[in-house]
Amino acid sequence: MPSLEWNKNTWDKEYNWKLKGEEWSQVWGSSEAQWFSSIYPRIHRFIGCDNVLEIACGYGRWTKFLMQYTANIFSGVDLSEECIQYCKDNFKAKKCTFFRNDGVSLAAVSVNKFDFVFSFDSLVHVSQEVLQNYIQQILSLLKPDGVCFIHHSNFGEVLKQTGVQEDHGGYKHMRDQTTSSKDIYDFILDHGGKVICQEIIDWGGGDSIDCLTTFCLNDAYKGISGKRIKNSRFMTEANIILEAHAPYNNL
Ligand SMILES: C[S@@+](CC[C@H](N)C(=O)[O-])C[C@H]1O[C@@H](n2cnc3c(N)ncnc32)[C@H](O)[C@@H]1O
Repeated sequence: MPSLEWNKNTWDKEYNWKLKGEEWSQVWGSSEAQWFSSIYPRIHRFIGCDNVLEIACGYGRWTKFLMQYTANIFSGVDLSEECIQYCKDNFKAKKCTFFRNDGVSLAAVSVNKFDFVFSFDSLVHVSQEVLQNYIQQILSLLKPDGVCFIHHSNFGEVLKQTGVQEDHGGYKHMRDQTTSSKDIYDFILDHGGKVICQEIIDWGGGDSIDCLTTFCLNDAYKGISGKRIKNSRFMTEANIILEAHAPYNNL
């Protein structure tokens, strides 16, 4: 299981950030193609708002887009000193703040409430305990009608079904091995939240090792009862985006 220590070592010491995370978007063609064709359609109803918090922002692959939809306060949190320094140096919009945290606490941003909380391609690597801890804090940081969209592991469920430790045809994506989407769904409900949608997705192999969970406070979005869907074509969608958008790249 990727521990806090593993995350600190990997992202602050071992990883070479020279491509700023753009390398992880190559399957879609670019971060721009991935944002506008894959991520934006899933979150567009919730952005274009006052205050946004991004957890585990890295070198800002999504920050640069999210900030454009933020009218007031943008806060980014990450456990890596290097990442936070890069973001501080490169994203200097008014009311834009970045904090290095201990991999657990959101205390540094708790003076504000947020309309939208976002994390993608990061919390897949944290333990269920750390994820649950973040979810509890997020629930206390959301405005009454605020929404959170997080990408996390579902590898615990896959492991239970298959018993196979490697998560993608023998290749390790370093997903947390205990987290399951259903446990996260129930945890949100038990802690005063409501799931708007849970999309259980593949990450290139056949198995549904990941999950996108969108949630809010219990009293918000009345009439919505959380949908859980399994989408085993998340990466097929990426391949289509790569092909279909190729002529529009580099214009
Ligand atoms: C694969 S990178 C992705 C960065 C960015 N979200 C992106 O998509 O380009 C993972 C990031 O998560 C951060 N991270 C890992 N565990 C964390 C934790 N427990 N709390 C805060 N940040 C964490 C790392 O420092 C790193 O910047």
